Amino acid sequence: MTSAANIRVDVHLDPDQLRAALRTEARAGLTASPKQLSPKWFYDERGCELFEAITRLPEYYPTRREQEILTENAAAIAELTGADTVVELGSGTSAKTRTLLDAFAARGRLERFVAFDLSEPTLRAAAASIAKGYPGIALHAVVGDFDHHLGDLPGGGRRLVAFLGGTIGNLGPDRRASFLKELATSLRPGDSFLLGTDLVKDVARLEAAYDDSAGVTAMFNLNVLAVLNRDLGADFDLHRFHHVARFDVEREWIEMALRSTTDQVVTVADLDLRVPFATGEEMRTEISAKFRRSGLEAEMQAAGLELARWWTDTAGDFALSLWTPAGAGLGSPSPG
Ligand code: SAH
Ligand code: TRP
Repeated sequence: MTSAANIRVDVHLDPDQLRAALRTEARAGLTASPKQLSPKWFYDERGCELFEAITRLPEYYPTRREQEILTENAAAIAELTGADTVVELGSGTSAKTRTLLDAFAARGRLERFVAFDLSEPTLRAAAASIAKGYPGIALHAVVGDFDHHLGDLPGGGRRLVAFLGGTIGNLGPDRRASFLKELATSLRPGDSFLLGTDLVKDVARLEAAYDDSAGVTAMFNLNVLAVLNRDLGADFDLHRFHHVARFDVEREWIEMALRSTTDQVVTVADLDLRVPFATGEEMRTEISAKFRRSGLEAEMQAAGLELARWWTDTAGDFALSLWTPAGAGLGSPSPG
């Protein structure tokens, strides 16, 4: 449970539970029509490394844009929220979050950082690294799935819950609505929610961000098949699937898929399953929704959240927004 001096680690999802969930979801997805896989399975250690590489690609603008907004506005965020606890959902390596932590620390009121992610190794490494940089604060790593364990997030203190990277766009509309409602319900007066969202823009730029010329995103997408091979004894041949990313202009989301390049039958030993693929058949692996301010405000209002601030980068590519429980507002600015 506890690892180092002031790092607490709660595991709500151990490797056995993760594997059990993978079995259930893989069976459902591989026998559905059309086939699909949950994006959760992208993020094994290799997947987390590949995602890190994606964030540095010239075509993948979201990370740099969001960092720009954070650099510009972190001090204001610390001031406006008056929070003493930063909770990050889908925290990954928490690289950008340091900009926030620095601003909160500069006000002298940062007491605790809580990081919540599916990937235990990534979380442990991130927590150890943050512990070195911020020796005075309490660190709490929570290994969990936001489909199941949002309710297990620690309360206490005045919290800023941050959900960065546009990861909210990876949830479909229904799932997003229930996620936001659950999150909003967990916020107390004085708490606030900081959300990073990618914005609707030129289709060519959107598609390039999810289909880079170096092929890193393709490797990331295909890695999910390697996860099934390793963890479920499947025999996917990664050379017989092709990465597809296209923007759906009606739904305003990027749709990622793996397309079978031949007629083939894949065996998943641990599920006793044989899965036929036709040439050209696509299996959906991920969506990444792009937002407009008006649409986001409507979704958040339905969940019981009110807009306090809206920031974008100078190019208007990405938005960072601050929300409070309806009626609560940002409260009185705290001394600091
Ligand atoms: N916040 C970072 C990382 C984004 S990548 C950034 O902005 O760059 C998405 C992260 O969310 C990954 O670290 C992944 O492990 C985590 N994640 C994905 N689905 C999740 C789920 N259902 N529950 C918890 N974490 C999840
Ligand atoms: N949250 C990231 C996004 O939607 C995840 C991501 C980036 C991703 N590139 C990807 C997911 C490629 C699947 C495939 O931007």
